[in-house]
Amino acid sequence: MPKPIITPKQVAPVKSKFRCIQTPIPPPESLPILESLYRDEPQSMRGQRPVIWERAEGFQVHDAWGNTWMDWSSGVLVANAGHGRREIAEAICAQANRALLHNYCFPSEIRARLVGRLAELAPDPLEKVFLLTTGSEATECAIKLARTHGRAVGGDRKIGIVSHEGAFHGRTLGAQMIGGIPALKEWIVNLDPDMVQVPFPDGFRCRDASFGLFLRSLEERGFGPDRIAGVITETYQGGSAAFMPREYAQELAAWCREHDIVLAMDEVQAGFGRTGTMWGFEHYGIVPDLVCCGKGITSGLPLSALIGRAGLMDQYPPGSMTSTHTGNPVCVAAALANLDIIVKEDLPGKAARVGAALHDGLRAIRERHAEVCGAAMGKGMVAGLHMVKPGGVEPDGALAASIVDRCVEKGLLMFYPVGLGSATVKIAPPLVTPEEAVREGLEVLEQAIKEAAR
Ligand SMILES: Cc1ncc(COP(=O)(O)O)c(C=O)c1O
Repeated sequence: MPKPIITPKQVAPVKSKFRCIQTPIPPPESLPILESLYRDEPQSMRGQRPVIWERAEGFQVHDAWGNTWMDWSSGVLVANAGHGRREIAEAICAQANRALLHNYCFPSEIRARLVGRLAELAPDPLEKVFLLTTGSEATECAIKLARTHGRAVGGDRKIGIVSHEGAFHGRTLGAQMIGGIPALKEWIVNLDPDMVQVPFPDGFRCRDASFGLFLRSLEERGFGPDRIAGVITETYQGGSAAFMPREYAQELAAWCREHDIVLAMDEVQAGFGRTGTMWGFEHYGIVPDLVCCGKGITSGLPLSALIGRAGLMDQYPPGSMTSTHTGNPVCVAAALANLDIIVKEDLPGKAARVGAALHDGLRAIRERHAEVCGAAMGKGMVAGLHMVKPGGVEPDGALAASIVDRCVEKGLLMFYPVGLGSATVKIAPPLVTPEEAVREGLEVLEQAIKEAAR
């Protein structure tokens, strides 16, 4: 018998209102599936604890061997309206049964409804919507439109794209070049010299959270406003759940306006209620020029969008800014049903209310474990607990991973810290998670921290 690729670990059984763990992890019966994946997929797909999802409903994920996890991942920030929502599944089936699975860029009634709906949900002057498939496509398109505008108003010198250190905007070429995690883009070698990153003002690892630091950093790198076409920033950093100070964001928006620089907010994680408001940028009291959306826009199917001012969105002539699967009718049906749920159930409001309990709990945990827990960040239903080497601010990635492992073994599903060297335990439950379940999750998390830090 060949040695199994993973040795199932015996773990203590768990039976609570929301969780059930009754097999070793992973279950021995799941090994053939894992072996086939390991054989046929690139190893880069093995980044998480191998929980084989059979069914996911609401805020829970089930495998085929009787285990149930409470989900604190939302499948990496996708299932805002909850997993497997009946209304979304029915909308998908109804559209599929209408025998329209695809129509490229030819017009469709359902696409008209979705772009209209998104334009309505977005604040003025964001009035045009371009549907795409992945978040990376949306950020790539934002770069293109910002640079195109820069050249139009300032010539070939005004092409710089500024983003933040530590940022993640996707895995395609341009999206990686504006990303702020150097190790992820080493392979590109010839990085664009007009794409530059400045420190993210998280107030923890970057103590100076003033907008002055933004200006000084650009000056040090030889970038004046005449060389900059656009600034793109995540509303909060996905890797850490860190928000920028409100004043910083407001000064940034004013500075962009003053110098005819396009401000793009990457809301791929932050949009659709996640942070306790429909749009994450509402926390800053600003409206950007472009908004990149993805993930929670459908709570499940692949669809993304770029929303922006008409003057920017209309820069390209007919036929020159398209994508094969733009507005795929089935994905669009899912998005419409998802938006209905988010609005009707006031999921942004619910995320704010339940999120307040989550953050109170995390702050208390941080205080009780201050030696190893440097900071608790986030808003609404997204949070990051920053694990550190005792007493300092040096990230402790091994500790964060060990906490995630223990949570998974206790029936609380989380994903490993994102980004090389990151030590953030990221928390992102579906927005439909009841407060009682969040409280149970906090107890599990604290127990995992105690065991891992021992
Ligand atoms: C903030 C942010 N932007 C963009 C992306 C890329 O989205 P996708 O993986 O759909 O290309 C991600 C994905 O994690 C993200 O978190």
